Amino acid sequence: MRKKIVAGNWKMNNTLQEGIQLAKDVCNKTIPQDVKVILGTPFIHLTEVAKVVKGTPVAVAAQNCADKAAGAYTGEVSAAMIKSAGIEYVILGHSERRAYYGETNTILAEKVKLALENGLLPIFCIGEVLEERESGILFDVIKKQLEEGLFFLGADEFKKVVIAYEPVWAIGTGKVATPAQAQEMHAYIRQQVAAKYGNTMADDTTILYGGSCKASNAGELFANPDVDGGLIGGASLKADEFLGIVNAF
Ligand code: PGA
Repeated sequence: MRKKIVAGNWKMNNTLQEGIQLAKDVCNKTIPQDVKVILGTPFIHLTEVAKVVKGTPVAVAAQNCADKAAGAYTGEVSAAMIKSAGIEYVILGHSERRAYYGETNTILAEKVKLALENGLLPIFCIGEVLEERESGILFDVIKKQLEEGLFFLGADEFKKVVIAYEPVWAIGTGKVATPAQAQEMHAYIRQQVAAKYGNTMADDTTILYGGSCKASNAGELFANPDVDGGLIGGASLKADEFLGIVNAF
């Protein structure tokens, strides 16, 4: 079923103590019953933040997982390990992972597969860079990311995935997509899901917007029929601002 979701992506911010405090601050606020709130924390925070959110409606996400199941991969963290820490979600395919750590659609498909096999729900990020938008190939880019990163999944697996459309030019830049730009791409993504998995699946798929979303612009973005919530970077680092977004529907 399609959900309203506001997911924070803390990226590489907050010490463990700061992260615990932020999670407590979020959990201490009143969260509307129909909105799923997720905190995407660094690996080192996951177990402690999972304890903080226990018994609250807030869920936790890792920001990555390995593309291998287990073994001699120094420095990597597997989907099974994340699941064993009591975590529900994993953010995969973020543009920073794609751009700085060479994560291709092929690698991401492995990660998606392993996440699902281990009972984690992927929040799968897609998005075009500015030149791709300006040269008019933005829809082709998104289509390829969907086809190679997700559309190999059977329907039973695909229905567990949350999609996050994050135009790369809007991430961390303060340059948010207009509500019309967001709606146009979200409708396109839903259309692609419909073409692959049928209309019911498309209707049930949760598609988040990400990129310079904050409390002051979330309302007009979320008012679009195909925008089901947000993946929030900078504005997820302050509980009040983040809760402003959670309450923006
Ligand atoms: P931003 O980041 O909200 O700071 O633009 C969004 C994201 O990277 O998920």
